Amino acid sequence: MKKYVLITGASSGIGYETAKAFAARGENVIITARRAANLERLKAEIYAAHPEVDVVIRVCDLSNTGETIALYDSLKAYDLKAVINNAGRGNKGGFIDDDLRRDIDMLHLNMDAVYILSSLYARDYKDVEGAQIVNVSSIGGYLVVPGSSLYCATKFFVSALTEAIDLEMRKGGHKLRAKVIAPTTTETEYEQTAHDSNEKFDYAARGGFYFTAKQMADMLLELYDSDATVGSIDFATRGLKLSEPKHPHL
Ligand SMILES: NC(=O)c1ccc[n+]([C@@H]2O[C@H](COP(=O)([O-])OP(=O)(O)OC[C@H]3O[C@@H](n4cnc5c(N)ncnc54)[C@H](OP(=O)(O)O)[C@@H]3O)[C@@H](O)[C@H]2O)c1
Repeated sequence: MKKYVLITGASSGIGYETAKAFAARGENVIITARRAANLERLKAEIYAAHPEVDVVIRVCDLSNTGETIALYDSLKAYDLKAVINNAGRGNKGGFIDDDLRRDIDMLHLNMDAVYILSSLYARDYKDVEGAQIVNVSSIGGYLVVPGSSLYCATKFFVSALTEAIDLEMRKGGHKLRAKVIAPTTTETEYEQTAHDSNEKFDYAARGGFYFTAKQMADMLLELYDSDATVGSIDFATRGLKLSEPKHPHL
């Protein structure tokens, strides 16, 4: 039976490049997001470069719990080699200034969807050799950043959940691995979406160091290939630092 890698948030940025990187290895991919046109463009790009790879599109709003569960249920016929929970977004800032409704949607997207897909996958694949969950957190999932309080809180959730799942799987003697990557600034649609803007954000003009989405996707695959649980950015080398969860009994 063919195996597939499920990648959420594949219509742009890190998810788009991650889907291309898995496809370049000959992995079949299931790509999901809300923008169907972007997913079709990605599918065409992958087919042009790797005609042997199967690409399945699922359009889904992951801020909607029912749609997220239905997405997973719709994939029961596929053998999922890995789930990459990448979809997520930031908020505009200011805890007391933000739009409450928009923030609640972000909570559903950044936390509920990651929990639901991780949980459903873990129940089905906990004893399958090679099965992996890779959840995309952020440096804001390990350090709080004033002005991004709620976003950081959602990413602390992702980091804590993923590290704990991995410890629990290992303690229980299960084969499933759960891993978390914590990107730093990466040139994607992230800033534009967070600020609800129609204009492309100019990362170069802002100054400071940033990664391309392809660089971050390559680091995600480096974590995927490794034995480590956590992938964070080493600012000295500007490369990926692999580590284990901080747990007193490990
Ligand atoms: N870029 C950075 O500097 C940075 C730093 C640290 C962590 N991260 C994390 O990296 C991950 C990927 O973000 P990115 O930087 O690649 O940003 P991006 O280019 O804005 O990509 C975000 C992806 O999430 C999808 N998405 C957003 N809302 C969704 C919804 N309601 N339902 C389903 N999919 C949804 C988007 O697709 P649709 O709009 O088509 O639905 C898009 O494919 C996020 O979890 C982000 O928090 C990014």
